[in-house]
Amino acid sequence: APSDPDLVARARAAKEKLGDKVFVLGHHYQRDEVIEFADVTGDSFKLARDAAARPDAEYIVFCGVHFMAESADILTGDAQQVVLPDLAAGCSMADMATAEQVAECWEVLTEAGVADATVPVSYMNSSADIKAFTGRHGGTICTSSNAQRALEWAFQQGQKVLFLPDQHLGRNTAVRDMGMSLEDCVVYNPHKPNGGLTPEQLRAATMILWRGHCSVHGRFSLDSVNDVRERIPGVNVLVHPECKHEVVTAADYVGSTEYIIKALDAAPAGSKWAIGTELNLVRRLANRFADQGKEIVFLDKTVCFCSTMNRIDLPHLVWALESLVAGKVVNRIQVDEETEHFAKLALERMLMLP
Ligand code: 13P
Ligand code: SF4
Repeated sequence: APSDPDLVARARAAKEKLGDKVFVLGHHYQRDEVIEFADVTGDSFKLARDAAARPDAEYIVFCGVHFMAESADILTGDAQQVVLPDLAAGCSMADMATAEQVAECWEVLTEAGVADATVPVSYMNSSADIKAFTGRHGGTICTSSNAQRALEWAFQQGQKVLFLPDQHLGRNTAVRDMGMSLEDCVVYNPHKPNGGLTPEQLRAATMILWRGHCSVHGRFSLDSVNDVRERIPGVNVLVHPECKHEVVTAADYVGSTEYIIKALDAAPAGSKWAIGTELNLVRRLANRFADQGKEIVFLDKTVCFCSTMNRIDLPHLVWALESLVAGKVVNRIQVDEETEHFAKLALERMLMLP
C-alpha cells in the first residue's frame, strides 16, 4: 500500500530540520516506506563499515535490527548517539546464543582440551556480549559477505573454529566454499548437556557450529528450488547463505543481500531469477528490474517477511525523527564500555580482513 502522505511529509520535514545532524542507515530488508528516507542502504557489512562515515552527525538513526544498531554504537564515537526506531526490532537468530550459554560452551571446550586450539568466529547477527566474547578469545566477526575470508583468517590462528550463532552460514561456507566435508562439522546444542557432544567428537571436529538459524531463511526447502525450476524453465536460483545446506547446494548462486542486488543489476535482459531471501527486498528488486525485462520471483510460494525488520515502519521513523527535532533522544542503543572494548576488537578484526 502507498505510504500515508501526511507521514511522508512529516518525515521529510523532520529530516530537513535535522540536516547534517542526522544520518539514517537502512538495511536492505527494510520496508520501502523506510528505505525512502535512508541516506545509505546496505548489507550488514556495508552498514557496519559506513556507520562511522559521518562522524559529524550527532544522531545515527538505524533502520534495521538491534544487533546492527549495537554494532553502529560500538564502531562510532561517544559523541554520536544511535537510535533504533522500535526497540522490539530484535533478531531471533541473535537471541539463540546468550552470553551464559556461550560461556558454558567455552567451558565444555576447555574440559575437552580443545579451547586453546579453537578460534571463535561470530556472525554479525549476534549480541554485543557475544561479540565481546569473540574479541576476548582472539576471534573475529564475519558477515555473509566475508565469511570465507574470516574463516581462512581464523584457521591461520588455530586448528578449530567455533562458529556462532548461524550453523547454516558456518556449514555452507566451510563445505561449499572451502571444500571441507560435512563430517568435519559438529553441531553444539546449547540446550543439551555438553552441547550434546562427546569430548572425542569435539577433538575430531574442525568446525564446531552453534545450533542457531534464521527462521525466515529456514522456510526455503529443496522442494522450493525443485518447484521453481519446474515452473520457470531456465530460471537462475540465487539464495542467501543463511539458507539450509541442501538449499544452498541446489542453488546456482549464493550471496549476501548486497551480492544479490549486484547480481541482478548485472543480469542480462530476459533472464529469469528466483530469489531466496527476505520478501521486502525481493519485491523491491522485482519492481526495480521489471522494466529491464528481468523476471524476478520469490523462491517460495509462501510469503516470508522478517517480522522484526518489519517493525521499523514509517510511524516509528517519524516518531524517532520528530523526537530528535524536539531535542529528545528516544530508543538510544548504548553498549557498556567494557563490552564495547572487546566487541570492537572483534569487529575491527573483521574490518581489517584482507
Ligand atoms: P546481509 O545483509 O549481510 O546479507 O544479512 C542478512 C541478514 O539476515 C541480516 O539480518
Ligand atoms: Fe535475523 Fe533472519 Fe531477520 Fe536477518 S532475516 S534479522 S537473521 S531473523
